[in-house]
Amino acid sequence: MALTHYLVLAAISLSLSNGLEAVQSEHEITRMHRTGYHFQPPRNWINDPNGPMYYNGVYHLFYQYNPNGSTWGNIVWAHSVSTDLINWKILEPAIYPSKPFDKFGCWSGSATILPGKGPVILYTGVIDNDNTQVQCYIEPQDPFDPLLRKWVKPDELNPIIVAGKGMNKTKFRDPTTAWWSKDGHWKILVGGKWKRKGMAHLYNSKDFVKWVRAKHPIHSADNGMWECPDLFPVSLRGRKGLDYSEEEKHAKHVLKVSLDDTRTEYYTLGTYFTKKDKYVPDNTSEDGSSGLRYDYGNFYASKSFFDPSTNRRILWGWANESDKPNDDIRKGWAGIQAIPRSLWLDSTRKQLILWPVDELKSLRGKEVTMTNLKLQKGELAKVDGVTPAQADVEVTFSFSSLHRAEAYDPSWVNPQDLCAQKGSMVEGGVGPFGILTLASKYLEEFTPVFFRIFQAPGKHVVLLCSDAQRSSLVDDPLWYKPAFAGFVDVDVAASKNLSLRSLIDHSVVESFAEGGKTNILSRVYPQLAVMDQAHVFVFNNGTEPITVDLKAWSMNAATIS
Ligand code: FRU
Repeated sequence: MALTHYLVLAAISLSLSNGLEAVQSEHEITRMHRTGYHFQPPRNWINDPNGPMYYNGVYHLFYQYNPNGSTWGNIVWAHSVSTDLINWKILEPAIYPSKPFDKFGCWSGSATILPGKGPVILYTGVIDNDNTQVQCYIEPQDPFDPLLRKWVKPDELNPIIVAGKGMNKTKFRDPTTAWWSKDGHWKILVGGKWKRKGMAHLYNSKDFVKWVRAKHPIHSADNGMWECPDLFPVSLRGRKGLDYSEEEKHAKHVLKVSLDDTRTEYYTLGTYFTKKDKYVPDNTSEDGSSGLRYDYGNFYASKSFFDPSTNRRILWGWANESDKPNDDIRKGWAGIQAIPRSLWLDSTRKQLILWPVDELKSLRGKEVTMTNLKLQKGELAKVDGVTPAQADVEVTFSFSSLHRAEAYDPSWVNPQDLCAQKGSMVEGGVGPFGILTLASKYLEEFTPVFFRIFQAPGKHVVLLCSDAQRSSLVDDPLWYKPAFAGFVDVDVAASKNLSLRSLIDHSVVESFAEGGKTNILSRVYPQLAVMDQAHVFVFNNGTEPITVDLKAWSMNAATIS
């Protein structure tokens, strides 16, 4: 069917959809955007993933949680356990304010498994109304309890680190997992800020109890408070994840920081000089807020851990809501965790690859395929046969020539601006083509995830967009509906195709381009395109014809209770 035909119908149906809110019951409002297989607790606010680990056959995921409501506040560490990273059992909160050193909040932190002892968690305690932050130590009451339900805070140890001279004690938080260094010390990083500079403070300890700050931060940059730093090695030889203790000859390091000012993250690849306690980014990695991202969408406060049972490094990240706090109060819940992703170094050694953990496939139900489907300019085709609001879609778009690619203007440095300007409906040469997710029947609402290819001098530039601008009929200026975007570093002239995987889950569209090179998570709240009223289409709005090969699966719900 031609796209223009749909758009005429959309205009008619738009005029019928006023008064929509009135017909939605309270129950529908709280339910219809809840996810089916992304992690979220039954109710209330969540933010950062905390202390992820694998211990004695069990994965633990803690997370920042408000037990009293669906906006941020009263923060405790909620706790859940799993044997497959997908289905979770929710336990009682593990860490909650109970002592002078964490009376005003138990903020983010990390777990370290100490040889011969078991897990220990370092987290940030808030001690007063001025937000003074200290680092605290907590350990399982019974390390032989397979679920590690109860945690104790030794009074004689806590707080284990307080901000020293020349530090900002209200910008001092989120300790990392510790690593054992050849120089005979445990080491951790703690996020901080001094004047405009964001930094990761480095601390050394021989016994995990007495911690001494290194002379200088391991790294810093002029971009405001660094939250949730993460430093870890990645192998130069394949996908195998590395624990910190592995020898470093065949590894590079990754330093990721979460920028409080913009609520975005970036990482660099680089070298960690153990003796000097310095991290130096490679000159191929931009060291600033427009640097490489795990995800160019709604993805923050991420944290990785090494899974020794499968030799993977796994990454968790928090995706906030993008409606307003009042909507969250009405819904009774806010915040999800992105699907955990395996992470490894790309063969170019210039970026990381991130891909949903294989365990997610266990939720795949009914499968449909579309092969060798040709789409001319302006055509779209519906993907039938899967539950459209809860699906996993893998698709490859092929084309025979790049001659029609639009010229690339070198002033287009910000992919998000470019995507907002050249949306999925603006005709192009090669692209835009992609999928319309969470689309209503007549396209009053849709969230397109699509590629657009440009010709730059001597190379092609590939843009990936996940555009929430038309995701919902609700026209509230306080809803955040960005045209998220990132460039994809790929030699498209050689391959003549591009691949995309999108995990569609009611209010989430989590997409991975080219096997995880560029990824975008969007949060959207359609009003018509909900449950079985949602649709998935493939489309092409470029003059170059494309061929589509697609597999899609209905996704079963994860068990999270
Ligand atoms: C990141 C963050 C952390 C802090 C926590 C508080 O989202 O601001 O820096 O520890 O959330 O909930």
